[in-house]
Amino acid sequence: MVALARALRPAATNSTFADDVLAGLKATPKRLAAKYFYDAEGSLLFERITELPEYYPTRCEMQILREKGAEIAKLIAPSSALVEFGSGSNKKVRLLLRRAPQLAAYVPVDICGEMVEHEEADLRRDFPKLNIEPVVADICLPFALPPAAAASPRRIGFFPGSTIGNFEPHEAAGFLRNAADILGPGATLIVGADLIKATNILHAAYNDAQGVTAKFNKNLLVRINRELHGNFKLDQFEHHAFFNRERSRIEMHLASKKKQKAKVAGHTIEFRAGETIHTENSYKYSLESLSALARGVGWMPCAHWIDPMGYFSIQAFTLSNAAR
Ligand code: AVI
Repeated sequence: MVALARALRPAATNSTFADDVLAGLKATPKRLAAKYFYDAEGSLLFERITELPEYYPTRCEMQILREKGAEIAKLIAPSSALVEFGSGSNKKVRLLLRRAPQLAAYVPVDICGEMVEHEEADLRRDFPKLNIEPVVADICLPFALPPAAAASPRRIGFFPGSTIGNFEPHEAAGFLRNAADILGPGATLIVGADLIKATNILHAAYNDAQGVTAKFNKNLLVRINRELHGNFKLDQFEHHAFFNRERSRIEMHLASKKKQKAKVAGHTIEFRAGETIHTENSYKYSLESLSALARGVGWMPCAHWIDPMGYFSIQAFTLSNAAR
């Protein structure tokens, strides 16, 4: 599974899923939380999305890390600890670890214990000298750092994947505030963020020709049918994804093709023709808008890198040395 899945997925029990789905489908407008995309099938579909020709974010971010990794690694002071928020797959962090022998410790943080263990074993094999101290935690809530990271003179946070874009702006600010509290005075935070760009490029990235993103979106209904005794007819719903420029976000919806009813966990949900379920927001930032958000909670912009097409950014922020 992928980093973002973890980051967006608080430990959901089945009753939380049922409660959230029913509350969302009874609300006006109807909505479902994007964190529920990532069951086993949804995670595989997201992996396929990252390889689509139209879906540029993963490729662009990897390109920046490959080409500018050495420069980015210079932000890492000797004996620092690198804390990765929502670690999931270790593909991206490897590009930094390889260039940062000065690191005293690497702390992958993920809500999914199994995932952390699996990735840890992989990294231990490839970086035998690195002190790896995984933490199982929700990255949006306070958690304690393990001893070596807590004792290190400096901490660097790493939050790649543009997962920050799937948070509402107030949630993104909350994440940044929590990261500041955890990393402490003098810390640095490196964040991957997708940039605002021409609508046609954004549109294509979320409306791919092979229909993988549509399948990813509709997988929510498949999951509801399977786990909550739902009877959604998949061919009676359409994938809608568009850029809402005013709010600087891609919105994903599932639109009902006709007036119809569906049953979920014994409840009847009615749809008007054309009515949608809002399933995801993916906020797009400028260097300025992410900096403004970060500054608001004490992070000062210190560096940024953009891929040659100008599509994606990796932005770095620092906290002052004074205790907050
Ligand atoms: C995980 N996240 C950064 C993806 C995005 O682009 O917002 C999720 C996604 N949704 C549709 N395609 C990809």
